[in-house]
Amino acid sequence: MAKFQKHVFVCANERSAEDPRGSCKARGAEAVLAAFKEQLVEAGFKRVIRPNKAGCLDQCAHGVCMVVYPDAVWYGGVTAGDVPEIIEKHLIRGEIVQRLLIPDDKLTGLDPARQGKPA
Ligand code: FES
Repeated sequence: MAKFQKHVFVCANERSAEDPRGSCKARGAEAVLAAFKEQLVEAGFKRVIRPNKAGCLDQCAHGVCMVVYPDAVWYGGVTAGDVPEIIEKHLIRGEIVQRLLIPDDKLTGLDPARQGKPA
């Protein structure tokens, strides 16, 4: 089997309603994931681009959050309605959807001074 060209990881983590961090599932992650699954197949990307349900991606303040690999492009505040644009612009044309992009300096856990190098 050929390798997938890209993976689309969508956080679908769930937390209790009392948890102040909230969760991507409560913000609609399952609908985002379902839209990617359906629309990537419709666009002819079955076994080419793989939508994956992910646990917490540690970007909870930006939920629903997702990341495209190997591009390492992170998107936040994603809704099911954004999926056609992400597929058309990013996954087909290779253009970043700027209005949804989580900039590197806003990603949790990344020390810009280290430029992403491990500690
Ligand atoms: S709950 Fe989605 S990134 Fe943490």
